[in-house]
Amino acid sequence: MEKVIIFDTTLRDGEQSPGASMNTAEKLRLSIQLERLGVDAIEAGFPAASSGDFEAVRAIAAKVTGAEVVALARATREDIDRAWDAVRDAAKPRIHTFIATSDIHLEHKLRMSRDQVVEAAMQAVRHAKSYTSQVEFSAEDGSRSDRDFLCRVFEAAIEAGATTVNLPDTVGYAMPEEFGELVAYVRRNTRNMEQAIFSVHCHDDLGLATANTLAGLKAGARQVEVTINGIGERAGNTALEEVVMALYTRKEQMGLETAIDTTSIHPTSRLVSMVTGIVVQPNKAVVGANAFAHESGIHQDGVLKHRTTYEIMDPEMVGLSSNRLVIGKHSGRHAFKQRLTELGYALSEDELNRLFEKFKELADKRKEILDEDLEVLVAEEILRVPDTYQLEYLNVVSGTVAVPTATVKLRIRGQEAQGAGFGIGPIDATFNTIAKMTESRSRLLRFAVNSISGGMDAQGEVTVRLQENGLVALGKGADPDIITASAKAYVNGLNRLEYLKKNPSLAPEERSL
Ligand code: KIV
Ligand code: ZN
Repeated sequence: MEKVIIFDTTLRDGEQSPGASMNTAEKLRLSIQLERLGVDAIEAGFPAASSGDFEAVRAIAAKVTGAEVVALARATREDIDRAWDAVRDAAKPRIHTFIATSDIHLEHKLRMSRDQVVEAAMQAVRHAKSYTSQVEFSAEDGSRSDRDFLCRVFEAAIEAGATTVNLPDTVGYAMPEEFGELVAYVRRNTRNMEQAIFSVHCHDDLGLATANTLAGLKAGARQVEVTINGIGERAGNTALEEVVMALYTRKEQMGLETAIDTTSIHPTSRLVSMVTGIVVQPNKAVVGANAFAHESGIHQDGVLKHRTTYEIMDPEMVGLSSNRLVIGKHSGRHAFKQRLTELGYALSEDELNRLFEKFKELADKRKEILDEDLEVLVAEEILRVPDTYQLEYLNVVSGTVAVPTATVKLRIRGQEAQGAGFGIGPIDATFNTIAKMTESRSRLLRFAVNSISGGMDAQGEVTVRLQENGLVALGKGADPDIITASAKAYVNGLNRLEYLKKNPSLAPEERSL
């Protein structure tokens, strides 16, 4: 079977999801997990966009050895110089340069003629090639470009030294059959096409990103640009897990394979969700909480008789153990460390010891500890920042007739404080009261509740994303009571905001592009 190159852009296009910005430490953690997953190339960022992006790409380039590390650049000398400065230390560096090719973009955005675009593309690739042998060229808005002009630009880019040419469906406009035909046409009519790898990069505005990507592969593309959980600009990018599992499950149809270790898919999906605060929709293909859940009696009966009656993939193949029991009270430190490593948390001995103590306390209270519980432990104990605020007490009154009211006791910089307030619901009342007591001016950008496991002793896991004066912080909290979990998450988010105010260099920077 022929191999498909998996080019992961979670850290670049994925980070362009609203509210998904990550700091360097978070990107490093993710890049190590992406390497473990087996991706061939990691697009680490867009160094000209901000100094935060530049630093993150540099840090990833210094750490990652197995996968290519890619830096994005517009087709200008300055962007390419900046991209090269950021990736030059990588074991396998790649520069990815792009310019738009559709008439809409040429006329309204670039104000350039077609000849000028061809010239800019050639100059950019040539300049990038003076730095590194691996150069990718992308024709932005390729799917809405004139097909013969696309062939002309790709031919010029390959002539100038591009080793990969990428056809993006930038605005998620293409239909699968049409996109496949476009890929086939451009491959057939670009004179020197056999000297480069053909890549596709699809957005999901019409929910067709995976279908279009697979159509591109059928038509001869051999690199796919994807993100974990499909995060990305607007409706997102093609989801890595969907393409990889489609190729694996339907190999007789596609005849293609990847180097992905599919059992790392689920842990990687969880880590991306933890770091970005973007919760995976329950019915999301492959990685959603319900992707392997069978609700109807007929289906349950069928699966019990034979798994394949209603399951086309083995959950263990994507890293979900069937009973989802990770480790229990009697598990040793070794198994504990191993599972954390698989989940993408490489901890120091000291952190591991601290966490193992907390794990044993939790295991004494609960029958089984799931991956999600371990993640909450890491979030609470290791990723924790100094507590400016501590939640001491919470009492909430709510119901069909009562006005939702919260009474809260906090410790603020060591001093005890008490307050009460109202809201349109119990969580709103709690947040209003805490905001008043802490004099917080933050805005709640995102609030999400998840249940960890479905049993009687399940915990509610709450994620909040808060913004204040350009700083964005994620807060997490877990508790069997979701109002308490919400209060914990909110206080955690406020503590992170305070931490970022004192350490602004740790905050992901706003991109200028
Ligand atoms: O969607 C797009 O066109 C892009 C390019 C920069 C490849 O992300
Ligand atoms: Zn894109």
